[in-house]
Amino acid sequence: MNIKKAEFVISNTDPEKCPPDGRPEYAFIGRSNVGKSSLINMLTGKKGLAMTSSTPGKTQLINHFLINDEWYLVDLPGYGYAQRGKKGREKIQGIIDAYLDEREELTCLFVLLDCRLEPQAIDLEFINRLGESGIPFVLIFTKIDKISQSKLNGNMEIYKVKLLETWEELPPIFYTSSEHKKGKEEVLDYIDTINQSLRE
Ligand code: GTP
Ligand code: MG
Repeated sequence: MNIKKAEFVISNTDPEKCPPDGRPEYAFIGRSNVGKSSLINMLTGKKGLAMTSSTPGKTQLINHFLINDEWYLVDLPGYGYAQRGKKGREKIQGIIDAYLDEREELTCLFVLLDCRLEPQAIDLEFINRLGESGIPFVLIFTKIDKISQSKLNGNMEIYKVKLLETWEELPPIFYTSSEHKKGKEEVLDYIDTINQSLRE
């Protein structure tokens, strides 16, 4: 799929104020600094579309980007950023929870994980919660330019074993590098397939 048009529409903290037009949306979630905003820029081919930063905690709102006038990419704040303090973390968690619980247009959630890290409790808890609430999701391992292929393979093996302790089968998994523009086709084709099935 080609992205011909990508435009910022609205930022807010309240799912009720998100675009009311019913178009399907695909949201990006994960720990702060995992590369959500960078991935949106890479997928759309627009560098400054979503704001990125080398310091965690950059995205603090629900951000809607309209793609090809047909569907939305949604950039969400990261969870679990310790520096923000308890109050700040709870506020961000409240925004994320409200979005996940209330937003019917959410068609698939992309859960981003840093491919360099071993499975983290905070991510596993988040993923398990998605299962409990029945939210469709896939996993994206980010920043694959930062490790070797053999290290990546090893880390993925550990991750899969960990997931299979809880899940009967694995969700779809993608591997991306926003730096090297890797994984773009795969992720966009996946979204395209879902969009097509929604039209049928
Ligand atoms: P928050 O909005 O704070 O939750 O973070 P985020 O998940 O949106 O991360 P963001 O896209 O802002 O990226 C965080 C940092 O990681 C930035 O310095 C990016 O340049 C860097 N980064 C993101 N993706 C990649 C990648 O694929 N490869 C490399 N090498 N760096 C990346
Ligand atoms: Mg961000």
